[in-house]
Amino acid sequence: MEIVLKDVSFCYRRGDIKGDDVLKGVNLRLQEKKCYLLTGPCGSGKTTLALLLKGLLVPTSGSIFLKNGNISLSSLQDAIGLSFQFPEEQFFKETVEEEIAYGPIMHNLDRIDERARDGLNSIGLPYEQFSKYSPFDLSCGEQRRLAIASVIACDPLWYVFDEPTAGLDFEGRSKIVELVKNFIREKKTVIIISQELELFLDLCDEIMVLEEGMVKLMVDTKTFLEKETLNEIKVFLPYHNRVLRILRNRGWEIPVSSTDPLNAASIIVEYKIDKNRRSLEKRR
Ligand SMILES: Nc1ncnc2c1ncn2[C@@H]1O[C@H](COP(=O)(O)OP(=O)(O)O)[C@@H](O)[C@H]1O
Ligand SMILES: [Mg+2]
Repeated sequence: MEIVLKDVSFCYRRGDIKGDDVLKGVNLRLQEKKCYLLTGPCGSGKTTLALLLKGLLVPTSGSIFLKNGNISLSSLQDAIGLSFQFPEEQFFKETVEEEIAYGPIMHNLDRIDERARDGLNSIGLPYEQFSKYSPFDLSCGEQRRLAIASVIACDPLWYVFDEPTAGLDFEGRSKIVELVKNFIREKKTVIIISQELELFLDLCDEIMVLEEGMVKLMVDTKTFLEKETLNEIKVFLPYHNRVLRILRNRGWEIPVSSTDPLNAASIIVEYKIDKNRRSLEKRR
């Protein structure tokens, strides 16, 4: 099954006034059981695209449809677990436990209490400690985790995480990465919207770059990192990839697509040793 976006454009309206297109002729195919990283500068249309996928917005022109699916698009959209970029916008219950139970109740799921407890614990908000808090009294990072826990509690097959690590500390970010790894192992479909490439590049099957409402690139990670013209694309590459690219620009014949900093360090050291050895041999 795959979700297909065909020539999708979208503009927001303010009353009767039509704004500019914030998505312009987007063509995408998103297959189930794959992990995608959607990135691009602020204002490029990533959140708008997430809302279209979830069916909370409809394209101004173009279409979204399912291919090879045995359910309707709206059933799939209903079942997509979307965690919002600004979680405080989605809370409306008085306590954390009511907030997290809301999704499973709305989806007529069983084991509501267990889902709420497991969802919170899995994201590092111990249920016993947080269940009676007001969602609005949580810190920004805790709110983000609650938003994600609320999605996990529904156990969807498709996840869309909009900037899931924004505002989280090292531990919180690591927890999100671990969760995503688990979802991938469980063969869920995961779409991560993030500018923190170093966290997700080696997990995703494909990376999509949006710029000014257009898909600039949609390739696998290795092809992405090896791309000669990557500096023309407005993304913040992991530090070690930038170093590898600088060295290659200086004439080093090294691969630049490593997603592991330790591996990148080995590439640099080995190349240097090899280079020294060759220049010694030349001198002899
Ligand atoms: N509710 C809205 N009403 C009007 N314009 C909006 C609204 N939401 C977003 N926009 C505009 O749409 C563009 C894309 O925004 P968004 O999808 O949030 O981008 P991103 O998530 O990549 O930062 C921006 O120019 C933004 O100002
Ligand atoms: Mg956004």
